[in-house]
Amino acid sequence: MDKLIIEGPAKLSGVVKVSRAKNAYLPILAGVLLNPHPVHLKNLPDLRDINTILKLLGNLGVKITKNADVTTFDASNITSFDALYDLVKTMRASILVLGPLLGRFKSARVSLPGGCAIGTRPIDIHLDNFEKLGANINLEGGYVEAHTEGLKGSHLKLSFPSVGATENLMMGAILAEGVTTIDNVALEPEIDDLAHFLNKMGGKIEGIGTSTLTITGVKELKECEYEAIGDRIEGLTYIMAGLITGSSITVAGVNPKHIGKTLTLLKEMGAEFDIDGDQITTHTNKLKSVNIETSPFPGFPTDAQAQLMALTTQVEGESKISEKIFENRFMHVPELRRLGARITLQGNVASIKGPSKLKGAPIMCTDLRASAALVLAALASQGKTEIHRVYHLDRGYEKLEDKLKSLGANIERVK
Ligand code: EPZ
Repeated sequence: MDKLIIEGPAKLSGVVKVSRAKNAYLPILAGVLLNPHPVHLKNLPDLRDINTILKLLGNLGVKITKNADVTTFDASNITSFDALYDLVKTMRASILVLGPLLGRFKSARVSLPGGCAIGTRPIDIHLDNFEKLGANINLEGGYVEAHTEGLKGSHLKLSFPSVGATENLMMGAILAEGVTTIDNVALEPEIDDLAHFLNKMGGKIEGIGTSTLTITGVKELKECEYEAIGDRIEGLTYIMAGLITGSSITVAGVNPKHIGKTLTLLKEMGAEFDIDGDQITTHTNKLKSVNIETSPFPGFPTDAQAQLMALTTQVEGESKISEKIFENRFMHVPELRRLGARITLQGNVASIKGPSKLKGAPIMCTDLRASAALVLAALASQGKTEIHRVYHLDRGYEKLEDKLKSLGANIERVK
């Protein structure tokens, strides 16, 4: 298993370009299943999660060809409607093939995602609402077995603005008969991106960017080319790398509107930024503590909670961070403590006393964003930090060590 060795403290400078968003491309790749005509996607990031969904699409019969930075998908001859346990167990987002398969082929069999390191993550909102669209759903042998005579438009209201359920249902409704309205949808930028992609294929989605989506079913889709948005969570991670090391760096390729609330929060902590189009430059101010809870977009994202916690170990005063989206997303805490962070936990609230002098130690990744937090803390630590189980990082950060190295960090991957 690979490990990362980081020698700190780091001083960073230069420009880092974020990749296209993993969490935008995962649903878009599932959406490819809706279309019998070729779909061309630009700049897919080379990530473990992306490779997992490519494998899943391949198993279903999608032909995939790559030419420079464009990957072409031909889903004209789907040979299986089964998303098997072996792949789904490694990536929960595989559940997103349910909507497209059901919508186009009236049948899908998808392994029920099990628990996950960060929470139980049920899929009841997906399944209850597919039933309202006319699907018969059975749970059999660990699989969701779904069939329909044909999905029919209906009025849906999500009990929580789930990102995955919004995406799955939106894709299911594209080829359904009639009009589907979905109230209380998630507002994350990746949802808008998926809707723009589906519309580019010939779908008819209105209300993009609002909490009600109206989807008028269409009979067929057409060939299209698309490129997803820049990865806002990767962007925030590098912005925090600049802040935690007291460095001025430029993070390019992320739409500032997609991270507006978080930039405001960081400004309240004392950070200053220069923003020029999709380039955000950090300054080297002293920061102070913060009191924040995670919430659905446009609130502070759970996917940046661990990274913010790493940052608060280096700011003046006591910060409080409440995790409101997932019930077990504090696994970075014991690892940060190994570096010398002073963090106490009470239920879903972490209290962080700063600034702490962090000192390198062997530590272990537990999930994707927790791993990013450990990298940030290692950059601010004195001496050598060995980060184990970096396969978690490889799910969502493309060329992390190359990008950090280009900013001047002393980081090596040991195979
Ligand atoms: C997406 O997960 C992201 N994944 C996650 O990113 C992100 O943390 C999450 O949205 C929240 O922003 C992808 O986009 C692939 P949810 P998703 O459905 O769709 C509960 C990362 O680090 N819920 O909005 O699974 C659920 O248990 C990852 O890149 C139900 O109760 O998130 C959770 O508590 C991790 N029933 C909350 O809603 C359901 O049917 C939010 O889940 C669905 C969800």
